[in-house]
Amino acid sequence: MNSKTRYLDLRSSPAGMQVHTYAFYALRDLEPGAEVVLISAEDPALLLKQLQLQLRNRLWWQSVREQQVWRVSIRRREDTEASTLQDLLSRDHERLDALLVRALAQLRACSASAATPEVMEFLQELRRHIEVENGLLAPAFPTLYGPEEDNPVATMLREHEDIVKQTKIIEELFHEAAPDPAEAEIWFGLLAAALSKHEYREETRLFPLWDTLLSRNPDADTLIQQVRAGLAPRASGAPVT
Ligand SMILES: [Fe+2]
Ligand SMILES: [Fe+2]
Repeated sequence: MNSKTRYLDLRSSPAGMQVHTYAFYALRDLEPGAEVVLISAEDPALLLKQLQLQLRNRLWWQSVREQQVWRVSIRRREDTEASTLQDLLSRDHERLDALLVRALAQLRACSASAATPEVMEFLQELRRHIEVENGLLAPAFPTLYGPEEDNPVATMLREHEDIVKQTKIIEELFHEAAPDPAEAEIWFGLLAAALSKHEYREETRLFPLWDTLLSRNPDADTLIQQVRAGLAPRASGAPVT
């Protein structure tokens, strides 16, 4: 609890206002560093899920049930450290998406040559993310390997190969003396589409599975620390690998 803690008791929401609406407005305006403690007589899991969707994954929460009352501490996600693979990797997807948008904006606003540092940083960071998923995570969950057509790890590895090939094509293009901006934008469009589908599949299918398996693993904290270190942003301008 801190000075920015506000209590939201859903057992006594204002007359005529739906519980969902009451909670939505309180959480929509949640400020950086602030906390809302939501108190509910009903299990708030579904309500929180709906609010998270509406607020575009902005919330972090921790629930405690005391007798028949749920108390949920809610904060902005960026005020907290990710503690699950799902959260850690999804946040890194958001970071990569922002780097991609920045590179594309730079490409459209300037010449392709002037956009080269932003483009290279995005490609480098994307490949680093893939290296963590391939090199650290896939081998940590061998039970997910198998010959099945819809094996989520096999799908991930296959899609990574295609994505890395696309990053190499873009990289080669930007190593030319005068990259063609129209051609670069076409390749960026293809990569952005592939990445968006890939991230969605990982976030909805693979990461929840990994977190379930990890919850039974005594070395879970070590693996999460390794992933966190592997994904930590590097300083801009670091050499491209
Ligand atoms: Fe991936
Ligand atoms: Fe990923």
